Amino acid sequence: MMEATARAYTNIALIKYWGKRDEQLFLPMNSSLSITLDQFYTTTSVQFCTCLSADIFILNGQLASEQETVKISRFMSLLRDLSGKKLYAVIDSTNKVPTAAGFASSASGYAALAAAGTKALGMDSDDQTLSKIARQGSGSACRSIYGGYVEWQKGDKEDGTDSYAHQILEAQDWNLSILSVLLVPEPKEVLSREGMKRTVETSPFYAGWLDTVEVDLNTAKSALQQRDFEMLGNVLEGNALKMHATTLGANPPFMYWTSATLDVMQQVKELRATGIQAYFTIDAGPNVKVLCQPKDEQIVQEKLKDIPAVQDVYLCHPGPGITYLPQ
Ligand code: DP6
Repeated sequence: MMEATARAYTNIALIKYWGKRDEQLFLPMNSSLSITLDQFYTTTSVQFCTCLSADIFILNGQLASEQETVKISRFMSLLRDLSGKKLYAVIDSTNKVPTAAGFASSASGYAALAAAGTKALGMDSDDQTLSKIARQGSGSACRSIYGGYVEWQKGDKEDGTDSYAHQILEAQDWNLSILSVLLVPEPKEVLSREGMKRTVETSPFYAGWLDTVEVDLNTAKSALQQRDFEMLGNVLEGNALKMHATTLGANPPFMYWTSATLDVMQQVKELRATGIQAYFTIDAGPNVKVLCQPKDEQIVQEKLKDIPAVQDVYLCHPGPGITYLPQ
Protein backbone atom coordinates (compact mmCIF):
# COMPACT_ATOMS: atom_id res chain seq x y z
CA MET A 1 0.00 0.00 0.00
CA MET A 2 1.32 3.42 -0.89
CA GLU A 3 0.11 5.24 2.16
CA ALA A 4 1.51 7.14 5.12
CA THR A 5 0.35 9.41 7.94
CA ALA A 6 2.32 12.27 9.43
CA ARG A 7 1.75 14.96 12.00
CA ALA A 8 3.30 18.43 11.99
CA TYR A 9 2.99 21.18 14.56
CA THR A 10 2.41 24.82 13.77
CA ASN A 11 5.10 27.43 14.44
CA ILE A 12 5.24 31.04 15.53
CA ALA A 13 7.86 33.35 14.06
CA LEU A 14 10.05 35.32 16.46
CA ILE A 15 11.82 36.95 13.53
CA LYS A 16 9.34 37.17 10.67
CA TYR A 17 9.43 35.91 7.11
CA TRP A 18 8.03 38.89 5.26
CA GLY A 19 8.41 39.19 1.48
CA LYS A 20 9.35 36.84 -1.33
CA ARG A 21 12.10 37.11 -3.90
CA ASP A 22 10.50 34.30 -5.93
CA GLU A 23 6.78 33.63 -5.68
CA GLN A 24 6.81 30.33 -7.59
CA LEU A 25 9.51 28.70 -5.49
CA PHE A 26 8.53 30.48 -2.25
CA LEU A 27 11.96 32.01 -1.76
CA PRO A 28 12.05 34.62 0.99
CA MET A 29 13.72 38.01 1.02
CA ASN A 30 15.00 37.41 4.55
CA SER A 31 15.86 34.59 6.92
CA SER A 32 13.50 33.96 9.83
CA LEU A 33 13.36 32.25 13.21
CA SER A 34 10.49 30.40 14.89
CA ILE A 35 9.34 28.19 17.74
CA THR A 36 7.39 25.06 16.86
CA LEU A 37 4.42 24.84 19.26
CA ASP A 38 3.26 21.74 21.10
CA GLN A 39 -0.52 22.33 21.05
CA PHE A 40 -1.60 23.02 17.47
CA TYR A 41 -1.01 20.48 14.75
CA THR A 42 -2.23 18.91 11.53
CA THR A 43 -2.45 15.16 10.97
CA THR A 44 -2.48 14.08 7.34
CA SER A 45 -2.86 10.69 5.70
CA VAL A 46 -1.98 10.26 2.05
CA GLN A 47 -3.00 7.18 0.10
CA PHE A 48 -1.95 6.85 -3.53
CA CYS A 49 -3.94 4.59 -5.81
CA THR A 50 -3.78 3.63 -9.49
CA CYS A 51 -7.58 3.70 -9.35
CA LEU A 52 -7.73 7.52 -9.11
CA SER A 53 -7.67 10.04 -11.96
CA ALA A 54 -7.49 13.12 -9.69
CA ASP A 55 -6.56 13.95 -6.10
CA ILE A 56 -9.31 13.89 -3.49
CA PHE A 57 -8.86 16.22 -0.52
CA ILE A 58 -10.76 15.69 2.71
CA LEU A 59 -10.31 18.46 5.26
CA ASN A 60 -11.53 18.02 8.84
CA GLY A 61 -13.76 15.13 7.79
CA GLN A 62 -15.40 16.87 4.83
CA LEU A 63 -14.70 17.00 1.13
CA ALA A 64 -12.72 20.23 0.65
CA SER A 65 -13.83 23.01 -1.72
CA GLU A 66 -12.64 22.99 -5.33
CA GLN A 67 -10.40 25.97 -4.61
CA GLU A 68 -8.69 24.18 -1.73
CA THR A 69 -8.37 20.97 -3.72
CA VAL A 70 -6.70 22.82 -6.63
CA LYS A 71 -4.09 24.27 -4.25
CA ILE A 72 -3.34 20.90 -2.67
CA SER A 73 -3.25 19.17 -6.04
CA ARG A 74 -0.68 21.67 -7.30
CA PHE A 75 1.53 20.71 -4.37
CA MET A 76 0.89 16.98 -4.99
CA SER A 77 2.10 17.50 -8.57
CA LEU A 78 5.41 18.65 -7.17
CA LEU A 79 5.67 15.32 -5.33
CA ARG A 80 4.68 13.48 -8.53
CA ASP A 81 7.41 15.32 -10.47
CA LEU A 82 10.04 14.63 -7.81
CA SER A 83 9.19 10.92 -7.49
CA GLY A 84 8.51 10.31 -11.15
CA LYS A 85 5.29 8.51 -10.18
CA LYS A 86 2.19 9.82 -11.88
CA LEU A 87 -0.30 8.69 -9.27
CA TYR A 88 -3.16 10.49 -7.57
CA ALA A 89 -4.09 10.26 -3.93
CA VAL A 90 -6.73 10.61 -1.28
CA ILE A 91 -5.47 13.22 1.19
CA ASP A 92 -7.20 13.21 4.52
CA SER A 93 -6.18 16.09 6.73
CA THR A 94 -7.35 17.08 10.20
CA ASN A 95 -6.36 20.30 11.92
CA LYS A 96 -6.09 20.67 15.63
CA VAL A 97 -5.63 24.36 15.08
CA PRO A 98 -8.33 26.96 15.67
CA THR A 99 -8.24 27.89 11.97
CA ALA A 100 -11.51 29.79 11.95
CA ALA A 101 -9.97 32.09 14.53
CA GLY A 102 -7.16 33.07 12.21
CA PHE A 103 -4.49 30.79 13.59
CA ALA A 104 -2.36 29.70 10.67
CA SER A 105 -2.73 26.06 9.68
CA SER A 106 -0.85 26.32 6.39
CA ALA A 107 2.52 25.77 8.09
CA SER A 108 1.52 22.57 9.88
CA GLY A 109 -0.65 21.56 6.92
CA TYR A 110 2.03 21.63 4.24
CA ALA A 111 4.69 20.21 6.55
CA ALA A 112 2.47 17.21 7.36
CA LEU A 113 1.52 16.78 3.71
CA ALA A 114 5.14 16.91 2.54
CA ALA A 115 6.12 14.26 5.09
CA ALA A 116 3.16 11.91 4.51
CA GLY A 117 3.19 12.37 0.73
CA THR A 118 6.91 11.66 0.25
CA LYS A 119 6.78 8.69 2.61
CA ALA A 120 3.77 7.20 0.81
CA LEU A 121 5.69 7.52 -2.45
CA GLY A 122 8.66 5.73 -0.89
CA MET A 123 10.91 8.75 -1.39
CA ASP A 124 12.78 8.41 1.92
CA SER A 125 13.54 12.15 2.17
CA ASP A 126 15.76 13.61 4.89
CA ASP A 127 14.58 16.61 6.92
CA GLN A 128 16.42 19.14 4.79
CA THR A 129 14.77 17.82 1.62
CA LEU A 130 11.38 17.77 3.37
CA SER A 131 11.90 21.36 4.45
CA LYS A 132 12.57 22.44 0.87
CA ILE A 133 9.49 20.58 -0.35
CA ALA A 134 7.19 21.92 2.40
CA ARG A 135 8.43 25.46 1.65
CA GLN A 136 6.85 25.23 -1.78
CA GLY A 137 3.40 24.77 -0.24
CA SER A 138 3.72 27.66 2.19
CA GLY A 139 6.96 29.36 3.16
CA SER A 140 6.53 29.07 6.92
CA ALA A 141 5.85 25.31 6.54
CA CYS A 142 9.55 24.67 5.96
CA ARG A 143 10.15 25.52 9.65
CA SER A 144 7.52 23.06 10.97
CA ILE A 145 9.59 20.07 9.84
CA TYR A 146 11.69 20.63 12.97
CA GLY A 147 10.76 20.91 16.62
CA GLY A 148 12.01 23.50 19.09
CA TYR A 149 13.73 26.64 17.83
CA VAL A 150 14.19 26.79 14.09
CA GLU A 151 15.91 29.06 11.58
CA TRP A 152 14.91 29.26 7.92
CA GLN A 153 17.98 30.39 6.05
CA LYS A 154 16.83 32.37 3.05
CA GLY A 155 19.49 31.09 0.68
CA ASP A 156 20.85 32.97 -2.32
CA LYS A 157 20.52 30.54 -5.19
CA GLU A 158 17.89 31.11 -7.84
CA ASP A 159 16.76 27.48 -7.81
CA GLY A 160 16.05 27.53 -4.06
CA THR A 161 18.28 24.57 -3.22
CA ASP A 162 19.89 26.51 -0.34
CA SER A 163 16.62 27.84 1.12
CA TYR A 164 15.54 25.53 3.95
CA ALA A 165 15.18 25.39 7.72
CA HIS A 166 17.36 23.84 10.40
CA GLN A 167 17.07 23.43 14.14
CA ILE A 168 18.88 25.86 16.45
CA LEU A 169 17.77 24.46 19.83
CA GLU A 170 15.69 21.46 20.74
CA ALA A 171 12.36 21.98 22.50
CA GLN A 172 13.71 20.74 25.83
CA ASP A 173 16.80 22.96 25.63
CA TRP A 174 14.80 26.00 26.73
CA ASN A 175 11.26 25.83 28.01
CA LEU A 176 9.38 29.04 27.32
CA SER A 177 5.67 29.71 27.52
CA ILE A 178 3.78 30.93 24.48
CA LEU A 179 0.25 32.15 25.11
CA SER A 180 -1.94 32.25 22.03
CA VAL A 181 -4.53 34.91 22.56
CA LEU A 182 -7.76 34.35 20.67
CA LEU A 183 -9.68 37.54 20.05
CA VAL A 184 -13.28 37.89 19.05
CA PRO A 185 -13.05 36.65 15.42
CA GLU A 186 -13.27 39.08 12.52
CA PRO A 187 -12.80 38.13 8.85
CA LYS A 188 -9.22 38.49 7.66
CA GLU A 189 -8.96 41.29 5.12
CA VAL A 190 -5.55 40.78 3.55
CA LEU A 191 -4.03 37.32 3.46
CA SER A 192 -0.35 37.04 4.36
CA ARG A 193 0.58 36.05 0.80
CA GLU A 194 -1.07 39.11 -0.70
CA GLY A 195 0.03 41.34 2.17
CA MET A 196 3.72 40.58 1.83
CA LYS A 197 3.57 40.99 -1.95
CA ARG A 198 1.91 44.39 -1.73
CA THR A 199 4.39 45.51 0.90
CA VAL A 200 7.46 44.46 -1.10
CA GLU A 201 6.12 46.17 -4.22
CA THR A 202 4.83 49.42 -2.76
CA SER A 203 5.92 50.18 0.81
CA PRO A 204 8.80 52.64 1.21
CA PHE A 205 9.30 51.16 4.69
CA TYR A 206 10.15 47.74 3.28
CA ALA A 207 13.75 48.85 2.68
CA GLY A 208 14.02 49.62 6.39
CA TRP A 209 12.76 46.12 7.17
CA LEU A 210 15.40 44.53 4.98
CA ASP A 211 18.13 46.78 6.36
CA THR A 212 17.60 45.61 9.93
CA VAL A 213 16.11 42.12 9.90
CA GLU A 214 19.49 40.38 9.70
CA VAL A 215 20.69 42.23 12.80
CA ASP A 216 17.48 41.25 14.60
CA LEU A 217 18.01 37.63 13.62
CA ASN A 218 21.56 37.59 14.94
CA THR A 219 20.47 39.22 18.19
CA ALA A 220 17.71 36.63 18.61
CA LYS A 221 20.12 33.78 17.92
CA SER A 222 22.58 35.13 20.51
CA ALA A 223 19.71 35.40 22.99
CA LEU A 224 18.81 31.76 22.32
CA GLN A 225 22.39 30.63 22.86
CA GLN A 226 22.65 32.61 26.10
CA ARG A 227 19.06 31.75 27.18
CA ASP A 228 18.63 35.49 27.71
CA PHE A 229 14.88 35.98 27.78
CA GLU A 230 14.88 39.77 28.07
CA MET A 231 17.15 40.09 25.05
CA LEU A 232 14.99 37.68 23.07
CA GLY A 233 11.75 39.39 24.11
CA ASN A 234 12.93 42.86 23.16
CA VAL A 235 14.10 41.81 19.72
CA LEU A 236 11.07 39.67 18.85
CA GLU A 237 8.61 42.36 19.88
CA GLY A 238 10.50 45.02 17.95
CA ASN A 239 10.73 42.80 14.90
CA ALA A 240 6.97 42.16 14.87
CA LEU A 241 6.26 45.88 15.18
CA LYS A 242 8.60 46.63 12.28
CA MET A 243 6.90 44.05 10.09
CA HIS A 244 3.53 45.58 10.81
CA ALA A 245 4.89 49.09 10.21
CA THR A 246 5.71 48.14 6.61
CA THR A 247 2.02 47.45 5.92
CA LEU A 248 1.08 51.01 6.85
CA GLY A 249 3.32 52.34 4.10
CA ALA A 250 1.92 50.02 1.42
CA ASN A 251 -0.32 51.22 -1.39
CA PRO A 252 -3.16 50.75 -0.67
CA PRO A 253 -2.18 50.71 3.00
CA PHE A 254 -3.47 48.03 5.31
CA MET A 255 -3.16 46.92 8.89
CA TYR A 256 -3.80 43.61 10.63
CA TRP A 257 -4.54 44.98 14.08
CA THR A 258 -7.91 45.67 15.60
CA SER A 259 -8.60 47.61 18.79
CA ALA A 260 -8.55 44.26 20.61
CA THR A 261 -4.98 43.68 19.36
CA LEU A 262 -3.98 46.99 20.94
CA ASP A 263 -5.72 46.02 24.19
CA VAL A 264 -3.51 42.91 24.40
CA MET A 265 -0.36 44.88 23.56
CA GLN A 266 -1.25 47.36 26.28
CA GLN A 267 -1.79 44.58 28.83
CA VAL A 268 1.62 43.11 28.03
CA LYS A 269 3.26 46.48 28.58
CA GLU A 270 1.42 46.85 31.90
CA LEU A 271 2.64 43.42 32.99
CA ARG A 272 6.17 44.50 32.19
CA ALA A 273 5.71 47.65 34.25
CA THR A 274 4.98 45.38 37.23
CA GLY A 275 8.24 43.51 36.67
CA ILE A 276 6.87 40.47 34.78
CA GLN A 277 8.79 39.75 31.62
CA ALA A 278 6.24 39.24 28.86
CA TYR A 279 6.55 40.16 25.19
CA PHE A 280 4.13 40.00 22.26
CA THR A 281 4.32 39.09 18.63
CA ILE A 282 1.67 39.26 15.89
CA ASP A 283 1.44 37.57 12.50
CA ALA A 284 -0.73 38.45 9.50
CA GLY A 285 -3.92 38.82 11.51
CA PRO A 286 -5.25 40.44 14.68
CA ASN A 287 -4.42 37.64 17.13
CA VAL A 288 -1.49 38.05 19.49
CA LYS A 289 1.01 35.55 20.91
CA VAL A 290 2.58 36.45 24.23
CA LEU A 291 5.87 34.95 25.35
CA CYS A 292 6.91 34.63 28.97
CA GLN A 293 8.85 32.31 31.23
CA PRO A 294 7.08 29.24 32.71
CA LYS A 295 7.25 30.70 36.24
CA ASP A 296 5.02 33.59 35.09
CA GLU A 297 2.70 31.74 32.72
CA GLN A 298 -0.22 31.49 35.11
CA ILE A 299 -0.38 35.14 36.06
CA VAL A 300 0.13 36.23 32.44
CA GLN A 301 -2.65 33.90 31.27
CA GLU A 302 -5.02 35.27 33.93
CA LYS A 303 -4.27 38.89 33.06
CA LEU A 304 -4.82 38.22 29.37
CA LYS A 305 -8.11 36.44 30.01
CA ASP A 306 -9.30 39.52 31.94
CA ILE A 307 -9.29 41.63 28.75
CA PRO A 308 -12.94 41.94 27.59
CA ALA A 309 -12.13 41.39 23.90
CA VAL A 310 -10.23 38.18 24.60
CA GLN A 311 -12.16 35.01 23.89
CA ASP A 312 -9.61 32.45 25.00
CA VAL A 313 -5.93 32.03 25.81
CA TYR A 314 -4.18 28.80 24.85
CA LEU A 315 -0.99 27.89 26.64
CA CYS A 316 1.74 26.35 24.47
CA HIS A 317 5.37 25.35 24.91
CA PRO A 318 8.06 24.42 22.40
CA GLY A 319 6.95 21.26 20.59
CA PRO A 320 8.23 18.45 18.37
CA GLY A 321 9.04 18.21 14.69
CA ILE A 322 7.46 15.86 12.18
CA THR A 323 6.18 12.59 13.58
CA TYR A 324 4.96 9.60 11.57
CA LEU A 325 1.91 7.71 12.77
CA PRO A 326 1.18 4.02 12.23
CA GLN A 327 -1.44 3.21 9.59
C1 DP6 B 1 3.55 36.92 8.99
O1 DP6 B 1 4.10 31.22 5.19
O2 DP6 B 1 1.70 31.95 5.40
O3 DP6 B 1 3.27 34.65 9.55
O4 DP6 B 1 4.61 31.52 1.95
O5 DP6 B 1 2.76 32.89 1.06
O6 DP6 B 1 2.25 30.75 2.23
P1 DP6 B 1 3.18 31.94 2.11
O7 DP6 B 1 3.07 32.76 3.48
P2 DP6 B 1 3.08 32.27 4.99
O8 DP6 B 1 3.54 33.63 5.67
C2 DP6 B 1 3.81 33.75 7.01
C3 DP6 B 1 4.04 35.19 7.33
C4 DP6 B 1 4.08 35.52 8.80
C5 DP6 B 1 5.51 35.50 9.34
C6 DP6 B 1 6.16 34.15 9.56
O9 DP6 B 1 5.48 33.15 9.85
O10 DP6 B 1 7.40 34.12 9.47
